[in-house]
Amino acid sequence: MQEQNVSTPFKVEKPKPPVKWAGGKAQLIPQFEPLLPKEEYNFYIEPFVGGGAVFFHLIPQQAVLIDSNEELINFYLVVRDNLEELLSDLRKHRNTEEYYYYIRALEPKTLSPVERASRFLYLNKTAYNGLWRVNSRGEFNVPYGKYKNPRIIDEPNLWRVSHALKNAQIICGDFSLVLEFAQAGTFVYLDPPYHPLSETANFTSYTSDAFGTEDQKRLAEVFRELDRRGCLVMLSNSDTEFIRRLYSEYEIQVVYARRSINCKPDGRGPVTELVIRNYS
Ligand SMILES: C[S@@+](CC[C@H](N)C(=O)[O-])C[C@H]1O[C@@H](n2cnc3c(N)ncnc32)[C@H](O)[C@@H]1O
Repeated sequence: MQEQNVSTPFKVEKPKPPVKWAGGKAQLIPQFEPLLPKEEYNFYIEPFVGGGAVFFHLIPQQAVLIDSNEELINFYLVVRDNLEELLSDLRKHRNTEEYYYYIRALEPKTLSPVERASRFLYLNKTAYNGLWRVNSRGEFNVPYGKYKNPRIIDEPNLWRVSHALKNAQIICGDFSLVLEFAQAGTFVYLDPPYHPLSETANFTSYTSDAFGTEDQKRLAEVFRELDRRGCLVMLSNSDTEFIRRLYSEYEIQVVYARRSINCKPDGRGPVTELVIRNYS
C-alpha cells in the first residue's frame, strides 16, 4: 500500500482585514515584509489597530490590540467571542437607501453589543467609500454608497478573523496604554493617524477627537520609552519634515503607497510614506 504523504503542504488562508479602514496597510504588506523584525519576539502590541492588516498578516501567539474607536473595538470583541450570533443578526440587513439611513440613525449605545457590531459592519460595507468617518458629535455621517452587490457577510473570512483574535487582548483606549504591557522583547507596531502633508489636507477623522501635532509628539515620547525598555518598535507615518525630525535618531525607510485619502494635494501617483524602526 502506498504511504500517504502527510507532509503535503496545503495553504491555510490568512484572514483579511474584515473592515475597510482609512489608512489600512494591506497594500503595504509586501514592502513591510523585509522591515519586520528577524529575531523572535514573544509578544505583539498594535496600539492603533484599525483594520489590523499587520496583525492579521503576522497572527502572533500573544497580542494586545488597542484602538480608540469604540465601534471598532466592540466589533472585534463580538467577532472573537460571539460570531454565531453576529452572523445571524447580519442576515437581517438589506441594501436599500431607506434601510441604510434607518440603520445609520440608530444610536449605537442603545443597541446590544451584537447589534452594534452588526450595524458597524453593515455601514462599513454599504457606506460611500466604505469608510468610517464621524462628525464632531461622534456620529457616523457617511452617505449611502449605492453599491450593487456589497459583500456584507464574508463568513469564511469572519471565522478566520475570529480565530486569529482568540489570543488577543482587545482594548478600547489611548495608544499610551501600550506602556502597561510592553516589556523587553515585545514587538510594537505603531500606525497612528498620519501627520497631514499640508495644513489644508482634508484629514479623515476616525473618532471625534482629531490626532494633532501634540499627539504626534506624545507618540514620539512613547516610541522612545519603548526603545529604552528594549522593545522592537516599528512606526508608519507620512513623509513630512516634521516626522523626519521627530524620529531623526532612528532608522527611517521610505515606502510607496497608493492613496486616495490623506493624500497628495494633486491626488495622483504614489505617495512616499515613512517606516521608522529602532532596529535594523
Ligand atoms: C492609520 S489607522 C490604522 C490602520 C491600520 N494599521 C490598518 O491596517 O487598518 C489609525 C487608527 O488609530 C486610531 N486612533 C486614533 N487616535 C487614537 C488614539 N489616541 N489612541 C489609539 N488609537 C487611536 C484610529 O481609530 C484608527 O483606527
